[in-house]
Amino acid sequence: YDYMKGVKHLVDSGALNSVPIKYVFPQDSRPSAAEIAEGESIPIIDLSAMDKSPEERLEAIKYLGQACAHWGFFQVVNHGIQESLITSMLEAAHQFFSLSSQEKLKYESTDVLNPVRYGTSFNAKVDQFFNWRDYLKHFSYPQLHTPDNPPNYREVAGEYFKETRKLALRLMGAISESLGLKSDYIQTVFKDGIQIGVLNFYPQCPEPDETMGIAPHSDHGGLTILLQNDVGGLQVRHEGRWVAVEPSPNAFVVNVSDHLEIVSNGRYKSVEHRAVVNAERARISIAAPNGPAMDAPIFPAPQLVDETHPPLYKSMLYGEYLRRQQSTGLRGKGNLESVK
Ligand code: SIN
Ligand code: FE2
Repeated sequence: YDYMKGVKHLVDSGALNSVPIKYVFPQDSRPSAAEIAEGESIPIIDLSAMDKSPEERLEAIKYLGQACAHWGFFQVVNHGIQESLITSMLEAAHQFFSLSSQEKLKYESTDVLNPVRYGTSFNAKVDQFFNWRDYLKHFSYPQLHTPDNPPNYREVAGEYFKETRKLALRLMGAISESLGLKSDYIQTVFKDGIQIGVLNFYPQCPEPDETMGIAPHSDHGGLTILLQNDVGGLQVRHEGRWVAVEPSPNAFVVNVSDHLEIVSNGRYKSVEHRAVVNAERARISIAAPNGPAMDAPIFPAPQLVDETHPPLYKSMLYGEYLRRQQSTGLRGKGNLESVK
């Protein structure tokens, strides 16, 4: 079988009773129910509170800061992005993955910085165990690059990623304030940066306990804005265990990513996460990582460095980091560790 055609094609090709060996993870890195923290959930941030009285706004900003420091992950509601756009985007993603594998493979590329790239697993060239996942990645800012099919993809994605980028910048303003920085500090770091659209498709899986949709990793960039369909699977590392993120209609999952951890000098955490799969339904998620410019040096904000808080990370160029992160297999927070 040609695994490069993707997992969806594999599953659609016929009755699959077991997970092919290529996708079987070693025992100690399979999802185990024992590691799940029951009854825990990531914080929910109500963005409408940001526009209320100064007291309510301050309270909301403080809560946001706590979410970034203790969880690195939260969901946002009342974010102002239209429900119909969210529905259309999920639908467009579904249509893309429903194209023939021949059509999708037109976008296959071995260059990790290619502006439009279809693939499977994480990095099929180096992955020892394939992730149960197909993906489409395309640059969405400063320039929108998209596949030509489905025909309405470009229009829907253009609007969707424009709105999620606005949301990311708005959150960066509030996050700057929560750190006691000037309200445009973080925005200035990421303003001329890049945004990538990452569409993930995780087909139903005959033996979900044997494999992983996406292995544990932290994200590159500043803030990632994630949308998921109504099929759960995302899990977040918290106090040594995994906390499941329940899908909530019209909410976005937001996470602090590696370069925001660097800028905050470690005050805010880029947290490991993973996606598990299930036997019943395919899951779709759409991530929008918002990073700095490729040639931007990223380093801890000088205001957050003093005698008792020495700089925790070395300055480095985002493009270099991105290439490294995308060229190796997934390795938890290994990429961030390497700039310490
Ligand atoms: C990712 O972390 O890249 C995807 C997470 C998800 O599918 O929810
Ligand atoms: Fe991620």
